[in-house]
Amino acid sequence: MSTHRTIAVGGSQPYAVRIGADALTRLGEHAGAVPGRKVLLVHQSGREPLAEEAAATLRAAGATPVLAAVPDAEAAKDVGVLADLWRRLGQEGFTRSDLVVGIGGGATTDLAGFVAASWLRGVDVVQLPTSLLAVVDAAVGGKTGINTAEGKNLVGAFHPPVEVLCDPAWLGTQPRADYASGLAEVIKCGFIADPTILDLVEADPAAATDPTGHPALALDLIARAVQVKADVVAADLTESSLREILNYGHTFAHAIEQVEHYTWRHGDAVAVGMTYVAELARRAGRIDTDLAERHRRVLTSVGLPTAYLPGRWEELRAVMGRDKKSRGSTLRFVVLEGLGRPARLEGPTEEQLQEAYAAVS
Ligand SMILES: NC(=O)c1ccc[n+]([C@@H]2O[C@H](COP(=O)([O-])OP(=O)(O)OC[C@H]3O[C@@H](n4cnc5c(N)ncnc54)[C@H](O)[C@@H]3O)[C@@H](O)[C@H]2O)c1
Repeated sequence: MSTHRTIAVGGSQPYAVRIGADALTRLGEHAGAVPGRKVLLVHQSGREPLAEEAAATLRAAGATPVLAAVPDAEAAKDVGVLADLWRRLGQEGFTRSDLVVGIGGGATTDLAGFVAASWLRGVDVVQLPTSLLAVVDAAVGGKTGINTAEGKNLVGAFHPPVEVLCDPAWLGTQPRADYASGLAEVIKCGFIADPTILDLVEADPAAATDPTGHPALALDLIARAVQVKADVVAADLTESSLREILNYGHTFAHAIEQVEHYTWRHGDAVAVGMTYVAELARRAGRIDTDLAERHRRVLTSVGLPTAYLPGRWEELRAVMGRDKKSRGSTLRFVVLEGLGRPARLEGPTEEQLQEAYAAVS
């Protein structure tokens, strides 16, 4: 099996997602193409070794790296951190032809993307995602942004990267539970578009959660999931009908995340959300029991949750009613009509909604 995969993301600003061990070499080639190019390395706290390695590669290629450490996780997606980066870019004299690089999980790639989108009304950004969620989801697709006190991702811009580079070996240091949480989005891609992903996970679930021990499998799963997202965003950058299929399982997941005040891992909530929506689709006559059960089986096999607490329906239902994807009190869901065949379910009955909840609680 090949040790590299390149996925082309089309659309009005096409770019490549390159997965493989030569990611840093490629960064050097990329930045070195403009002699003396300044490169802001926005790196997550904890990712210093990779940031230093990237800086050395850039220097060797004739570029000028500027290291900018940012706080870990969601603390990075903050207007104060953004302002610090703007100050840095100003002090270092970054021009339109210079470059921003994001190194870290999805929080850092979101921040790096947004600082690139906003500096001089848009400079190039290359993303170096280091978490599974970041490489299959956050770094691909062009959505960037930060949080405000009023909520997550309320400020942002669509600003596609010029390239996404990831060596799956970087993901090896992620805690196992975080990696599994990222797998929820990979498995989602299996259900909505590429069932081979499910076959691969089911064939050896332990291997699927171990990128260090099974690098070829990790490469294949990542590349397949990126391909699914690439196909969708190329056709639909700005979030209308097709992009909606990426939200499979997310309506119920967002409700859990809110009720739990964002203390749940996103992927864990998505795993329960997919199980919920599969139960809902079954009750609405869209899928059969086997396909609904397959959700439980494959998610459980990699250690993801498929159930939530009982007795929380009123709260969850209220949050889903406020979801931006619903229209008035009528709820809308992305469901399956079969494996790899996403569709929309508008206005399921309250009874179906509650029965599906009972099935996952
Ligand atoms: N822009 C989009 O389309 C999009 C899509 C999905 C998610 N997101 C965003 O992505 C973020 C979630 O991504 P995430 O789960 O990567 O979060 P994160 O960036 O907060 O990372 C989670 C934790 O993993 C650690 N980590 C990252 N890489 C590691 C590594 N290689 N080894 C050890 N630890 C590592 C981080 O330090 C952090 O503590 C959220 O802010 C979410 O809003 C954006």
